[in-house]
Amino acid sequence: MSAVSVPVEINRYALLSDEECAERIRVAKEKLGERVFILGHHYQRDEVFEFADASGDSLKLSRIAADSSAEYIVFCGVHFMAEVADILSSDEQVSILPDLSAGCSMADMANLANVERAWQELSSVLDPDETITPVTYINSAADLKAFCGRHGGIVCTSTNARHVLEWSFERREKILFFPDQHLGRNTGVKMDIPLDQMVVWDFNQPMGGLTEEQIKNAKMILWKGFCSVHQMFQPNQIDNFKAKYPETIVISHPESSFEVCQQSDYVGSTEYILNTVRQAEAGSRWLVATELNLVNRLAAEMKPKGVDVHFMSPTVCMCSTMFRIDPQHLCWVLESLVDGKVVNQVSVPKKEAEQAMLALQRMLDLPI
Ligand code: 13P
Ligand code: SF4
Repeated sequence: MSAVSVPVEINRYALLSDEECAERIRVAKEKLGERVFILGHHYQRDEVFEFADASGDSLKLSRIAADSSAEYIVFCGVHFMAEVADILSSDEQVSILPDLSAGCSMADMANLANVERAWQELSSVLDPDETITPVTYINSAADLKAFCGRHGGIVCTSTNARHVLEWSFERREKILFFPDQHLGRNTGVKMDIPLDQMVVWDFNQPMGGLTEEQIKNAKMILWKGFCSVHQMFQPNQIDNFKAKYPETIVISHPESSFEVCQQSDYVGSTEYILNTVRQAEAGSRWLVATELNLVNRLAAEMKPKGVDVHFMSPTVCMCSTMFRIDPQHLCWVLESLVDGKVVNQVSVPKKEAEQAMLALQRMLDLPI
């Protein structure tokens, strides 16, 4: 994501308390009625999440954005999510991200120049357009989704990664998976792909730091990207917790490392984590590896039901960019809409959106 200039009006809102904002958000929402639809990712802080008309993981929110007919889609999430909402909605609809600096540090680990260079370098070993399906995690910029659209590739989310990989292998023998190596590896392992056939492409090195033989032998070429939040979860945290409470059930997001996922009883998207723990039996104890706001809310919800939910890491791991969406920014964008002014619109250039749509549509057409 490029640098974002901060408009001066937000300074007035920065002085408002969360309570003042909450009241004003309620009033603005009421005035806008069905013209506005607020989407909230599960990692949003409580003070913002409470205003979401719908919440979900990336796949669910994409589908909701595609189905929405509201004039304004306000996405309380991160930049790539608002881009997807813009691509999937009609030309008349406007996608808004309350703070344009709310990016995803993992998405930023792959950019078009580096991916095109990788494609070029791979073409010295094999014909990539014949042999490799490019698969981008939805946590990526629109121009990378467009790259996948142009090259017969597809988008995946943490929910449908396995189906997407199966779709890809039906078409070509190899996959270039970016930007999250962990989601790629954790999914590949479930499909019985040996670890040594999943090589890591280091975008800072010529030929990704790989030999010709490694590339030829690989089933999956994994981009060297990761999520700074999920990398904080470690296998020893599971060991330490289980030493005290051996009956603990472990559930992790697939952006966590291979070792953490291997030691987990369940692995899945944010929506999957919520649905699974919500069905837990009273008296059960859960250790959860995903972002703190989700886990805290889930713990509070399940406590009265006798289900004990714990965060895996001893240190605080929040998605600091998602945290930038605060009540002050939400209040600002909604009151601006009431005044007839659109601020913080996220708009993907037409050609790029058309090509990205190809890759998104291939995903949305899958039966999941
Ligand atoms: P989900 O699609 O599982 O909500 O994941 C999005 C994300 O960014 C997790 O870090
Ligand atoms: Fe990106 Fe990680 Fe935040 Fe998810 S938790 S939005 S992958 S930085």
